[in-house]
Amino acid sequence: MRTQVAIIGAGPAGLLLSHLLDAQGIESVVIETRSREYVEARIRAGILEQSTVDLLTEAGLGERLAAEGDPHRGIYLQWPEERHHLDFVELTGRAVTVYGQTEVQKDLGKARDAAGQQIVYEVSETALHDLGTDRPYVTYTDNNGRPARLDAEVVVGCDGSFGPSRSAVPEAARQTWQRAYPYSWLGVLADVAPSTDELIYAWHPDGFALHSMRSSTVSRFYLQVPTDTDVAQWSDERIWEALATRLGHGQNGWQLTPGPLTDKSVLPMRSFVQQPMRHGRLFLAGDAAHIVPPTGAKGLNLAVADVALLAPALTALLLKGDRGPAEAYSADALRRVWRCTHFSWWMTTMLHTSADPFEAQLQLSQLRWVTSSEAGARGLAENYAGLPIGF
Ligand code: FAD
Ligand code: DHB
Repeated sequence: MRTQVAIIGAGPAGLLLSHLLDAQGIESVVIETRSREYVEARIRAGILEQSTVDLLTEAGLGERLAAEGDPHRGIYLQWPEERHHLDFVELTGRAVTVYGQTEVQKDLGKARDAAGQQIVYEVSETALHDLGTDRPYVTYTDNNGRPARLDAEVVVGCDGSFGPSRSAVPEAARQTWQRAYPYSWLGVLADVAPSTDELIYAWHPDGFALHSMRSSTVSRFYLQVPTDTDVAQWSDERIWEALATRLGHGQNGWQLTPGPLTDKSVLPMRSFVQQPMRHGRLFLAGDAAHIVPPTGAKGLNLAVADVALLAPALTALLLKGDRGPAEAYSADALRRVWRCTHFSWWMTTMLHTSADPFEAQLQLSQLRWVTSSEAGARGLAENYAGLPIGF
């Protein structure tokens, strides 16, 4: 098979890239290890920055997002006895939107169907070849066990944190940075109306808790847990008790309403960056190049921001032979990547508790500052609501 752009991975980065390239008349083929059903049901992120919403809307993907997305002006930050609201709209003029990654994925899938996009699901043994030449190609085994070859002008690795693309860059040509955090998140989905109008990020001596949501009838919660946690150790009763304790703030009779839990999973937390994000005719986008701990809600937004830069860069390269934007892609994307890497690390280390009492005092001092100083609040708001595309 031959195409202009071979895209590895049908997550948000891969599908959005194929969509934006198609709008410019550039052909692509997407290959994906999982089934379409699996990819569309994977429960992950839930918060879209303003620039992500704008981009999806401009790309013609905003219809259901506009109808079902829930715009939020800000978040609550709390610690025992105190809950504070940060109003991002007042502080930065920008809002965020609650809209699950599952929904973004479905919208993208539907749009790609309408355009007749070729997506090969359930492949195995993906391998990348001849990336240093103008004729790179990808080999894989299709879901009937047949070997296949995809020739392209450009290969884009959108294959997330476990895909093969990033290690297809020779070791001598790449640099990586990483940090593993000494805790994980236990994430649960509940069939119950949210007990809050906007997200609550809670510092608590027992550990961090987050009250998020997916709709007026579905709530999403996260609890800081030890890294070796087995979900089986957390009964529904234990989860609701921990959430009520950590999210309670002892004021105004606020109460958490429990309900049936429909999903439970443990997520490890790490930061990872690989640079450069281009090697010859291979480009990396999204989690294939960088991973952030989820506390700042940046992972999905960062994948979209990469693609927003990469699509015009590939358009210039493939339609006009202009290599400038493609050569600048890595450095341009990495400015935002490192900003979000810092913000996610900062939110994570400010909110997750450790056994160190000195650290706890520093965290509380930082929380008091971002909730009482306009400069502190604005810094958090600007990063959370998201920097403009092209930052
Ligand atoms: P992905 O969505 O990971 O897509 C990559 C795709 O490549 C996958 O479909 C994968 O199956 C495919 N693939 C992998 N290997 C191959 C191969 N060899 N050949 C072909 N295809 C391949 N972010 C938040 O902001 N908040 C959250 O709460 C949150 N929760 C998360 C929970 C989990 C379990 C994970 C893994 C991530 C979470 N994230 C969260 C991060 C966010 O979901 C990601 O940043 C986002 O999905 C990145 O999109 P992507 O397209 O780059 O990668
Ligand atoms: C969600 C996940 C996050 O990591 C976050 O910071 C906020 C919300 C969510 O899944 O809803």
